Amino acid sequence: MSRNDELKARAEAVIPGGMYGHMSTYRMLPEGYPQYFERADGCRLWDVDGNEYIDFMCSYGPMIAGYANPRVRAAADAQRNQIDIANAPAAVIVDLAEKMMSQISHAEWAIFAKNGNDATTACNMIARGRTGKRKILVAQGAYHGSQPWAARRTKGTPDEDYVHFPTYTFNDIESVTQAVAQASGDLAGIVVSAFRHDAGFHQELTDPDFARAVRALCDKEDAALILDDVRAGMRLSLDASWSEFGVQPDLSAWGKAIANGEPIAAVLGSDPWREAASKTFMTGSFWYQAAPMAASLETLAILNEENAPARLEALGQRFRDGIYEQAQRHGHSVLQSGPSAMPTLMFEDDKDSRLGFAFCQAALKEGVYLHPWHNMFLSLAHSEADIDQALEGTDRAFGTL
Ligand SMILES: Cc1ncc(COP(=O)(O)O)c(C=O)c1O
Repeated sequence: MSRNDELKARAEAVIPGGMYGHMSTYRMLPEGYPQYFERADGCRLWDVDGNEYIDFMCSYGPMIAGYANPRVRAAADAQRNQIDIANAPAAVIVDLAEKMMSQISHAEWAIFAKNGNDATTACNMIARGRTGKRKILVAQGAYHGSQPWAARRTKGTPDEDYVHFPTYTFNDIESVTQAVAQASGDLAGIVVSAFRHDAGFHQELTDPDFARAVRALCDKEDAALILDDVRAGMRLSLDASWSEFGVQPDLSAWGKAIANGEPIAAVLGSDPWREAASKTFMTGSFWYQAAPMAASLETLAILNEENAPARLEALGQRFRDGIYEQAQRHGHSVLQSGPSAMPTLMFEDDKDSRLGFAFCQAALKEGVYLHPWHNMFLSLAHSEADIDQALEGTDRAFGTL
């Protein structure tokens, strides 16, 4: 029996469903994906049976500068050796807030938390706190975390919990306008994501006109434009993701990549929302941890030095071009969607995911860790040689279909 299977058998008895959430291979991935890893370095992972993979998931986003990045690790360790958590925060919290202010155009204050969902939920609370209104519009199918309002598909939640979270369709301003009208004066905020990155669907880039129209609606309604940049943050831009359209949010939520895997999330806001933020009680035992803040400062330095978004886009494009050529040559119609720094790869006319699963399983056997229905992630630790090696594996994988 493999070590992976042995661990899975033991876990069945002590972990509900064998594993939970997005890291459950039972729920998320086809047969054959390892449930347990034991080592990570750069863009590579080793499972508990010693198999090596070039990783295209980056831990579902956080690992933007590579696993075990020596600079980030040294910064976190140095801080941890001095002080990490205590009765009050360390000075690094101010340094990090200042750094984020200097980098993110709309940000005039910061609050740090742990998970992306802490940040998206805090944005809602601040929006409601300032406006005194209740409704928060959320795009249908979007994911903003695993809390009921943010996932909308979890057991254990009464329908009433969604009453103040009506939905709209991303990129469809008419649907937003209708939802705003239905909120009839009770609109506190509209939550948007960097682009439409719903898992299981072809990805959709944001229509700049949509972004501008949502901004205008928020202004008209005196409601907060809340940008959830948890997944895409720092990957498409070193500023908030809608900056490229000239659209600034009032509140933005960050997590995942801002500290290269150390646990930290951030809420950033502009001045009009500062007082409400200061009056909203938000906290957590680990929210002030200093080591992830030091890691974040170092990560942001690296991302700026290496102009991460341009680099990730170029690497993603290299991968994408290779896949395109291979799919053509092997006679498969593959639809690649989303930005190339966060590529999604699905087969056309593959409703039951049969082809996508078979392709990813074959790639896995070749040492390439892809995802059949979730957007993937590049990192600064991927080199051109890694991409080319991965493409040799995907070429053989196409050959097995
Ligand atoms: C867009 C988006 N928002 C929020 C979250 C929640 O972040 P976390 O899992 O850190 O709570 C995620 C996580 O995948 C996400 O992709």
